[in-house]
Amino acid sequence: MSIAERKDSHLTLCLTEAVELPSHDATGFAALRFEHDALPEVDLAEVRTEVELLGKRLAAPIVIGAMTGGTPRAGEMNRRLAVAAARCRVGFALGSQRRMLQDPTVRDTYAVREAAPDLPLLFGNLGAVQLNYGVGTPELRRLVEGVGCDAFNFHLNALQEAIQPEGDTRFAALLPKLRAVIPEMGVPVLLKEVGSGLSRRTAEKIRELPVAGVETGGVGGTSWSKVESLRAADPARRSLGELFARWGIPTSESIVACRGALGDRVVIASGGIRNEIEIAKALELDAPYR
Ligand SMILES: Cc1cc2nc3c(=O)[nH]c(=O)nc-3n(C[C@H](O)[C@H](O)[C@H](O)COP(=O)(O)O)c2cc1C
Repeated sequence: MSIAERKDSHLTLCLTEAVELPSHDATGFAALRFEHDALPEVDLAEVRTEVELLGKRLAAPIVIGAMTGGTPRAGEMNRRLAVAAARCRVGFALGSQRRMLQDPTVRDTYAVREAAPDLPLLFGNLGAVQLNYGVGTPELRRLVEGVGCDAFNFHLNALQEAIQPEGDTRFAALLPKLRAVIPEMGVPVLLKEVGSGLSRRTAEKIRELPVAGVETGGVGGTSWSKVESLRAADPARRSLGELFARWGIPTSESIVACRGALGDRVVIASGGIRNEIEIAKALELDAPYR
């Protein structure tokens, strides 16, 4: 299957199949309860949600997460989401730009700035493992400059690649390559998981890199092991994907692990966050460290 076909099949599977874990239990948020204060002593109208993230002013601490690009359908999704993000003054992250490296004509499926010139914060994206498949500083700069992004996400998705029939699985020696390319990219760089979470040990390795921060991509929402198991024809691979569906660090734990390891660097919480209370719990888990 080509990368373009795979991108569209990911969109279809995520929209139509049961690829999500029940977020209320798997993220770990259900076990946490806010203490209600019947005497809050603050006017509701005085509550402010604006934040500064990577030097950009957002109306709320929200970034629409990295999903797609590289096909006409993906381009339409990117443009619509970017327009919505600009209108709400929140951030927006492109999905993997790998297709742009193979075929420069697909640039317009990622070039959301043209549709949403007021977008306050745009992230580019590529799998870190691609550094072991011929990608270096010139290619990365092309991706950043080709879309005019303000920051860049390298995704870490070892479990997904391992289950994916055509996965890229040469995961060795990525740390020195990341250390070399990150300072050359010209924009702040974050590392993110995609649904298996970042552990304390992983966050401590990341701390040694010149990154601006991380995105947790914790267990509790979309399971890429499940998605890839649905795509696999081989029954053994299908059952392996099911077996690993809940593998990883729940989002609530990953927030605490990342903040503990990364001091005052950026920690974006993601993975199964589906409502306002879960957003508030994610912020509160981080609060004791701020
Ligand atoms: C359809 C779809 C495609 C995705 N593609 C990418 C991608 O290309 N790059 C990336 O870093 N993350 C990708 N992700 C992962 C998300 O950014 C996020 O980390 C993950 O889905 C966990 O959050 P959730 O449980 O809220 O979905 C994708 C997610 C979805 C649903």
